[in-house]
Amino acid sequence: MSIHKRDDILSSEITDENIYLGRREFFCKAAKLGFIVPGLKFGTAEAAGFLNLFSPIKPSALPDDKLTSFQNITHYNNFYEFGTSKSDPAKYAGMLKTSPWEVKVEGLVRYPRTYSIDDLFKTYPQEDRIYRLRCVEAWSMVIPWRGFSLAHLLKKADPLGNARFVEFWTLHDPQQMPGQNIPVLEWPYREGLRLDEAMHPLTILATGLYGKSLPNQDGAPVRLVIPWKYGFKSIKSIVKIRLIDHMPRTSWELAAPNEYGFYSNVNPSVNHPRWSQATERRIGEWDLRKTLLFNGYANEVASLYTGMNLRKNF
Ligand code: MTE
Repeated sequence: MSIHKRDDILSSEITDENIYLGRREFFCKAAKLGFIVPGLKFGTAEAAGFLNLFSPIKPSALPDDKLTSFQNITHYNNFYEFGTSKSDPAKYAGMLKTSPWEVKVEGLVRYPRTYSIDDLFKTYPQEDRIYRLRCVEAWSMVIPWRGFSLAHLLKKADPLGNARFVEFWTLHDPQQMPGQNIPVLEWPYREGLRLDEAMHPLTILATGLYGKSLPNQDGAPVRLVIPWKYGFKSIKSIVKIRLIDHMPRTSWELAAPNEYGFYSNVNPSVNHPRWSQATERRIGEWDLRKTLLFNGYANEVASLYTGMNLRKNF
């Protein structure tokens, strides 16, 4: 388990992508061979946390899940607040000031709270998790996130009995986010989850990637990541998390309700009205891959949707 404060990181501490990959490979091999890591006793929480940091891809590792390069993760982005082209966020998101930053937790909770970003980092220990991200535009990446389960924060807020959904809001500041001057979407960007989806341990608030603080173009200082849903559910640069008793409207649903449903679970057999969702292109690869139901996380999340018609509830 590693804990860091965003502002504490020196450039000398930032892990180079190759070193990160090499270290991870070394520890994976060592762990598989039953190698003892000096100073750590296996079976202890400390060892579990340490190995988690460098452990093989989990959960639901696919044998050929290779990490997408840091360059691609940070230069092929969707962040419409900075433009609609994939290269715009890397060029312009630097203008977003991510400190000071506040995240409000409010609505149907016993303990509403406003976190400063440093509070958030201090309150919730961060860990590294490798997830596949499948975009609705039929491309995908494998990203080594750093973050913590949203459930920890929600449990601390203590949802009231009538809380059923969670609504998330991105910062609204057209001066810092010039894309918000153009009505391509309803601003601020808004997303939502059912409370049980939000409480699922795979759902994380991400605060970093490749062992570094989150780059602005990837949603600094804190964003959501829900690995079994299309990427647009993973809202960036969050300032508000509100628990409510009704299904919220989301920015994409408001823009095109017949194209973007509330659930937006990755599903190869439910096509987008304008293109197939059966295959995807992993960024950095040529050949198409078959898209997997729930992006390959069905073992972990399919039970959330038992009895639901996924074609209707797309
Ligand atoms: N969050 C905000 N605030 N604004 C956006 O335009 N784009 C979404 C999502 N979160 C978006 C957002 C989409 S469409 C995708 S695919 C993912 O962010 C992309 O995340 P990435 O750029 O880190 O790969």
